[in-house]
Amino acid sequence: MEKITVNIPGSVSEIFVGREWETAGKLIPQSGVLIITDQNVHSIYGNRFPEFPVLIVQPGEQSKKLEVIGQLAERLLDAGIDRSGFLLGIGGGVVCDITGFLASVYMRGIRFGYVSTTLLSQVDASTGGKNGVNLGDSKNILGCFRQPEFVICDPVMLYTLSDEEYFSGLAELIKTGIIGDRLLFEKIEQNYNAIIGRDPELLSSLVSMAVNFKAAVVTEDERESGLRRILNFGHTFGHAIELSSSLAHGYAVASGMELAARFSCNKGLISVTDLERITGMLKSFNLLRDYHIPGDQVGRLILHDKKKAGGDIYFVLTEGIGKAVVEKMPAGTIVDFYLKYKAGK
Ligand SMILES: NC(=O)c1ccc[n+]([C@@H]2O[C@H](COP(=O)([O-])OP(=O)(O)OC[C@H]3O[C@@H](n4cnc5c(N)ncnc54)[C@H](O)[C@@H]3O)[C@@H](O)[C@H]2O)c1
Repeated sequence: MEKITVNIPGSVSEIFVGREWETAGKLIPQSGVLIITDQNVHSIYGNRFPEFPVLIVQPGEQSKKLEVIGQLAERLLDAGIDRSGFLLGIGGGVVCDITGFLASVYMRGIRFGYVSTTLLSQVDASTGGKNGVNLGDSKNILGCFRQPEFVICDPVMLYTLSDEEYFSGLAELIKTGIIGDRLLFEKIEQNYNAIIGRDPELLSSLVSMAVNFKAAVVTEDERESGLRRILNFGHTFGHAIELSSSLAHGYAVASGMELAARFSCNKGLISVTDLERITGMLKSFNLLRDYHIPGDQVGRLILHDKKKAGGDIYFVLTEGIGKAVVEKMPAGTIVDFYLKYKAGK
């Protein structure tokens, strides 16, 4: 088990990787606790939850909205949760976002922690203190920064994930290797079979590496005014692909990373060998699926992304495996690259 601390002025968040999730009961108060989870997680793990009232939301993105937050807040009031209360979220990125958001606004903020149950939430969503809900089709438009007191990442819970959810999370793990940790990338390259077999020991060490990296980044730049932007590698094209095709987030980001790596290679930032290693890895896990962004919509879809400043985009490129760089560029430059690349295929 590894404990990673995210130390941000005014808050300390402890992330336990490889810890048995059933020990969550030892980290929460003895009273005033409410658990938030979704139906799928509850049906598999609910009988082993700590003995506190449980609020269950519908699985999936459609629960990440203000109406649901309002309904949950009413249930908290009914349950007599006051400012000394504690929310424990047990679930993936959706449950973590809902729990973090609700805990941040309920009575101007109560304590909260997570048991993080998907690979995506373990390597990404539950570290860093971003809590967001959607407004219509606009993702994570309403939100705040507030760190959970603790996060438990138990690799054993990843056994019950569907293949689609598991590999979607793997894309974010690969992203971390490309932008910040060459050793992580190599470890993924060298352990193909153990990754496919969801070996808990290996997953613990990969998740630890990813969380250590993200913790270091958010400690330096909690509010995404600089360094934290590198975490969006693959996401500019990824979001455009997600909006125009029916691909799950991780698969869309995987194709977005392929495009960003090709763009980096075109600009002479990475070698063809590194580009082939990146695309080879994404292909080996079958992460590159067919997608289509209509040519006349690329600009609009790219500008839909939050990582923009006027008509410019903070685009994340790689300078070789393990190193990323952010370049502010006009959306038109990105669209030109995309259209030329597609025309040449
Ligand atoms: N706050 C952040 O910094 C941040 C970062 C990245 C992503 N996110 C958000 O995370 C969300 C996506 O997270 P996700 O991919 O975990 O989605 P999710 O929470 O919807 O979980 C995916 C599916 O897996 C099921 N599930 C969860 N754990 C399971 C388990 N152990 N076994 C079996 N099934 C399980 C869920 O019920 C759901 O159907 C998005 O809303 C995204 O915006 C937030």
